[in-house]
Amino acid sequence: MTAETVAAHIRERAGDAPIQIGLVLGSGLGHLADEVRGVAIPYAELEGFPHAGVSGHSPKLVIGELEGVRVAVFGGRAHYYEAGNPAAMRFPLEVLRALGVEQLLLTNAAGSLRADLPPGSIMLLSDHINFTGLNPLIGEQSEARFVGMSDAHNPDLHARLKAAAKAADVEMPEGVYAWFSGPSFETPAEIRAARVLGADAVGMSTVPEIILSRFLGLKVAAISVITNMGAGLSDETLSHDHTKTMAPIGAAKLERTLREMLRAL
Ligand code: HPA
Repeated sequence: MTAETVAAHIRERAGDAPIQIGLVLGSGLGHLADEVRGVAIPYAELEGFPHAGVSGHSPKLVIGELEGVRVAVFGGRAHYYEAGNPAAMRFPLEVLRALGVEQLLLTNAAGSLRADLPPGSIMLLSDHINFTGLNPLIGEQSEARFVGMSDAHNPDLHARLKAAAKAADVEMPEGVYAWFSGPSFETPAEIRAARVLGADAVGMSTVPEIILSRFLGLKVAAISVITNMGAGLSDETLSHDHTKTMAPIGAAKLERTLREMLRAL
C-alpha cells in the first residue's frame, strides 16, 4: 500500500478540499482532535498507520474544520520506545504529504529543566538535541537522506505561533528540546547533563518527526506542554499517569494559541 493509495482512501471518506495544516497531538493532548468538525478515521482503518498503544493518545486521524481552517489532526503518534522503530511515523507523514499538506505542527508532553518553565507552561521549540543516536533516516537509500537541519524549526511558522500566543495572552518562551528514547524517565544525572549541554526540556518524541518532516519537505514547528520538572529537580514522582494528569493544564494554553494561529491563517 503506497501513501498515495491511503491518501486517496482518506479523500474518499473525508472529501478532497485542500488541507491547510497538519497537527500531531501528544500525550494527554488529544482533546483538540474532538473539537474538529469533520471525519474521524481510526488508525486501525488506515493501512500502515501505527497501532498507537500509549494511553492518553487517541489513535485516530481527523480531517475537518477548526476555526474555519481545514486541518488534518493526528490524535496520537507512535514512539520509538514502543517497538524500537525511530521511523514509526514515516508512513503517516508520507500520507499527509500525499494529501497535499505542506505544514505541520507537532505537540508533546515534556519535562522542564528550567525553573521559569514550571509544569503547566508551554514552550516553543527553538531547536532540538538528539540524545538517542537514532535517526529515522538510517537505511534510507536516496541522497535526500542528508537533510540540512539548520532551519529545521520553521521561522515563518514560529513568527505566526508567537503572534498567536501574544494575541491569546499566553506566555510561550522558546527553548531547546532534547530527545531521550524512553520509556524509562531520565536519571537526575542525565537531566543535569542535558542542562549543561543546552537543553531546556526533555521528552520521548517529536525529534524523529521533525527530521522526517524536513526529509519530506514539510515546514514544521513544535510546542511542548510542560507536565513536570525533570528528574531530580523536584520531589514529584514521575509516571505516565502524572504526565496525563498534568498535560491538560498546559493544554488549555496550547489550544488557545493554536486556535488563534488558525484564525489568522
Ligand atoms: N522526561 C521525558 N519525557 C517526558 C517527561 C520527562 O520528564 N515528561 C513528559 N514526557
